[in-house]
Amino acid sequence: MRRLYPVHPAPDLPASPSAGPTGREADAAGPLVPGTPGTPGVPEDLDTLEGLAEAYAYPPGTDASAPWLRGNMVSGLDGAAHHAGHSRPLSCEADVRILGMLRALADVVVVGAGTIRAEGYGPLRARKAFAGRRAALGQTPAPAIAVVTSGCDLDFSSPLFTEALTPTVLLTGAAAPEARVRAAREAGAVVITAGEGTGVDPARAVRELARHGWGRLLTEGGPQLLGQFAGAGVLDELCLTIAPMVTSGDASRIMSGPGLDEPRRFSPASILEEDGFLFTRYVRNR
Ligand SMILES: NC(=O)c1ccc[n+]([C@@H]2O[C@H](COP(=O)([O-])OP(=O)(O)OC[C@H]3O[C@@H](n4cnc5c(N)ncnc54)[C@H](OP(=O)(O)O)[C@@H]3O)[C@@H](O)[C@H]2O)c1
Repeated sequence: MRRLYPVHPAPDLPASPSAGPTGREADAAGPLVPGTPGTPGVPEDLDTLEGLAEAYAYPPGTDASAPWLRGNMVSGLDGAAHHAGHSRPLSCEADVRILGMLRALADVVVVGAGTIRAEGYGPLRARKAFAGRRAALGQTPAPAIAVVTSGCDLDFSSPLFTEALTPTVLLTGAAAPEARVRAAREAGAVVITAGEGTGVDPARAVRELARHGWGRLLTEGGPQLLGQFAGAGVLDELCLTIAPMVTSGDASRIMSGPGLDEPRRFSPASILEEDGFLFTRYVRNR
């Protein structure tokens, strides 16, 4: 894993507006690790899981009172967010390693129902390599998956619901189909309401997850959901893998749905490279 954009660690990281009035004080966006090896606080070896996890640690002070929403997505050179309906063809071994590491740092992984259905998600497992780190932070052994849905048309008999170490969450609106919500509860899911109609309000979703005790938030999209988080101004960070591939076609980009009134600016925090893939990390400007 090579550092292409070596930056020095900033003493303080920017505040998260999603944290609300109790969050850290706002500041100009500062760079995150990884930076120049040898600088205090900069991990030496990004080829170890520990080094990588240190490099991608959530900003200091992130907790339920100051949540931080990070997105992790992959895109081809032409902007395609999937090939034939799956993101796997755009991925590689290092991307999977980073994906797994980001999951292991998170309290909860928030995923749109479209992605759950397309990619066939199962529950996340507890990983030995992260057990100590998670216990020290008071995290459950494995992160929960929170599925964002309005129709709740999910297979509640699947392992995602029946075999989850940390119960899977259904994030939905107050007017979601009652029978489906009941079926989710019976399957062991925790139901969190984050909207008045059938849909979920993205900013409220962050607040409700925080109210549940979760501040280290990771979303893996998909494009519809990520676009809404960005539109609501609650996406703090984007970890975007750029695959050295083109697919053309009409695959969506990593965000879809209504456009924003104005482009939102993010600042690069780090760029790593392996096998021609770029692992970029951007933090939203305040
Ligand atoms: N490149 C990448 O990194 C990446 C990552 C993830 C997914 N993908 C690809 O993206 C494709 C899926 O795209 P997508 O945009 O359909 O995925 P998505 O955003 O995961 O799913 C859309 C669905 O999520 C639910 N949803 C989204 N916003 C909601 C809200 N505010 N309230 C309630 N429910 C909400 C709805 O589910 P209900 O219909 O159940 O109401 C909606 O139909 C797949 O091909 C997948 O492979 C790529």
